[in-house]
Amino acid sequence: MEGDERVIKALNLTKRYGDLIAVDHISFEVKKGEIFGFLGPNGAGKTTTVRMLSTLTRITEGEAYVNGYDVKRERLKVKESIGVVQDVSNLYDELTVEENLKFLAELYGAPGENVERLIKEFNLPRKQKFGKLSSGYKRRVAISAALIHEPPIIFMDEPTVALDVHSAKLVREMILSLNKEGRTIFLTTHNMLEAEKLPHRIAIINRGKIVAMGRRNEVRSLLGRGVRVRFRVEPLSNKLLKALEEYSPSFDEDLIVVETGDVDGFLEELHELKGELGFKILHMETQLPSIEEVFLELTDESEEPRTCAVSCGGCPI
Ligand SMILES: Nc1ncnc2c1ncn2[C@@H]1O[C@H](COP(=O)(O)OP(=O)(O)OP(=O)(O)O)[C@@H](O)[C@H]1O
Ligand SMILES: [Mg+2]
Repeated sequence: MEGDERVIKALNLTKRYGDLIAVDHISFEVKKGEIFGFLGPNGAGKTTTVRMLSTLTRITEGEAYVNGYDVKRERLKVKESIGVVQDVSNLYDELTVEENLKFLAELYGAPGENVERLIKEFNLPRKQKFGKLSSGYKRRVAISAALIHEPPIIFMDEPTVALDVHSAKLVREMILSLNKEGRTIFLTTHNMLEAEKLPHRIAIINRGKIVAMGRRNEVRSLLGRGVRVRFRVEPLSNKLLKALEEYSPSFDEDLIVVETGDVDGFLEELHELKGELGFKILHMETQLPSIEEVFLELTDESEEPRTCAVSCGGCPI
C-alpha cells in the first residue's frame, strides 16, 4: 500500500428512494493502494453506495470525493479516474472480445495499445464473441474493459458472484494483481472467503448504516468475546474440566475449546494445572472470531422492510 493519501472519502453519504433510506449517512475513507472490502447482506446498500461514488446515481445528501474530485460537482473528472465493474456489463454480445475492447478504447480516447496489453495480461480469448463466453471469462473481460483507460481506482460490485470456484479464484487473482500494480480497489461482496483474504480494510454495512469498520483483525476483535483457545491434553481428566469450569469449556471432537479475553492468564493457569495434574498438552491453537462470525452477529438475516418497531402499520424509519 502506498502512503496515507485518501483517494475515496464519503461524508454522511445518503441515498433516499422515496421513503426508503437505502444508504444512511455513512462516512469512510479509502487509502490509496488499498483493497477496501464493503460487506453487507442483500439490500444493505452496497450497490447504491458504489453507484453514488461512481456518479451513476445522484447523492441525496452528504459529500463524496474520489481521486480528490467532488463527486457532485466534478463528475467527468471522477469518471476519468475510475473503472466500474458491475453485474450487468456494457459489452456487446455480437462483438468479439477484441472488438469490444477496441470500441471502448475509442470511446474513452484510450491508446489502442491498451487493448493489446489487457488481452495479453489477462489471457483473454480475443477472437471469441463476448456473448458466447462462459460467465467466468465474461467477468474477466468485463474487468479488463473497466481498465481500458487505466484508472487508478476500480469499483467492483460483487465481482465473483455466480462464478464457479475456479473462475472466482481467477477473478480474485486478477484483483490482487491489479492491486499489486498500485490500483485502489473498492470491492463489495458478501462472500466471506473473499472478505477473509482480499481486503486490507473492511466496512460492514447493514440496512444502510456502517456497523463495523477497520483492518480485518480489528473487525474480528469487535465481537468482544475475546480469543478462542483450542487445545488437546492427555490424559483428559474430570479434575481438569472441573478446574476449567469458569471458562465453560466445550468440545470440538477431541479438542477442548474455551473463550477468553485474557489468553496469557489462561495459559498460565493451564500450565499450573499441568504441573498439579500431570497431563501433557498435545495441541494448542488460538483463534480470533472469523469475519463471517462478526458479519452474522452484526447484520440482519434477511432483507425485511425497513419499518419502525411500533406496530403503526409500517411507517418508514
Ligand atoms: N432504483 C431503486 N429504487 C428504489 N429502491 C431501490 C433502488 N435501488 C435500490 N433500492 C433499494 O435500496 C436498498 C439497497 O439496495 P442495494 O442494491 O444498494 O443493496 P445491496 O447491498 O447492493 O444488495 P445486494 O447484495 O442484493 O446486491 C434496497 O432496499 C433496495 O431495494
Ligand atoms: Mg448489490
